[in-house]
Amino acid sequence: MLPVEIGTRRLLLDLPVPADADAVTRYCQDPLFERYLTTPWPYTSSDAEAFLSGYVPAGWASEAELTWAIRAERGGLLLGMISVREAQHEIGFWMGDEHRGAGYMSEAADAVCAWVLAGGVPGATTVFWRAVEGNLGSAKVARSAGFRRIEPDDATVPTRDGGTLPAWYGVRESEPDPRAEASWNGILGARA
Ligand SMILES: CC(C)(COP(=O)(O)OP(=O)(O)OC[C@H]1O[C@@H](n2cnc3c(N)ncnc32)[C@H](O)[C@@H]1OP(=O)(O)O)[C@@H](O)C(=O)NCCC(=O)NCCS
Repeated sequence: MLPVEIGTRRLLLDLPVPADADAVTRYCQDPLFERYLTTPWPYTSSDAEAFLSGYVPAGWASEAELTWAIRAERGGLLLGMISVREAQHEIGFWMGDEHRGAGYMSEAADAVCAWVLAGGVPGATTVFWRAVEGNLGSAKVARSAGFRRIEPDDATVPTRDGGTLPAWYGVRESEPDPRAEASWNGILGARA
């Protein structure tokens, strides 16, 4: 598939490019990434270059993983990254430290899910989310992006060293589920 751009109210999601390497390197050195993501640790500029020049374009070409840069405008600074994997249409994301708390990831995740479910990924009827148990920021994004929490037995997420950790799971369906918002109350409490 050729890379696709998605516009939202405040954001442009487009192809991550080699010129984003410095920003990716800096953002991915955040200690939260060691705890919650499977990105290399410690993270170096070579990791960013391999990701942007190899992994991202290969993922679009094979459709194994579609990855977008999150920006405020065309050609603008990279704010964060979001992707959808072919396997289970699983969404993954991170936002650069200084850009958090503005609702950007909720806006980006909602837009990517809407695109996937509107035929962007042919045949997709659900988008899947999971995070290491305790990742409240990620769970709040999932809630805001219309996911419903699900609690399968043995819910786990892979770690970078090949192990697994207990995980929270969620699913977003083509038709918004009226029980979605309340399904998060057990871990996030009711929204103020
Ligand atoms: C999770 C993450 C992507 C959120 O990005 P963001 O742009 O700040 O998200 P939003 O501004 O849309 O915030 C969504 C909600 O999460 C809350 N939030 C954001 N980061 C948080 C954190 N670290 N801890 C607790 N709450 C957090 C916001 O206050 C907001 O709350 P609300 O829904 O009650 O309004 C960002 O914190 C991040 O990159 N974390 C490290 C990487 C990571 O864990 N990725 C997900 C892996 S599954």
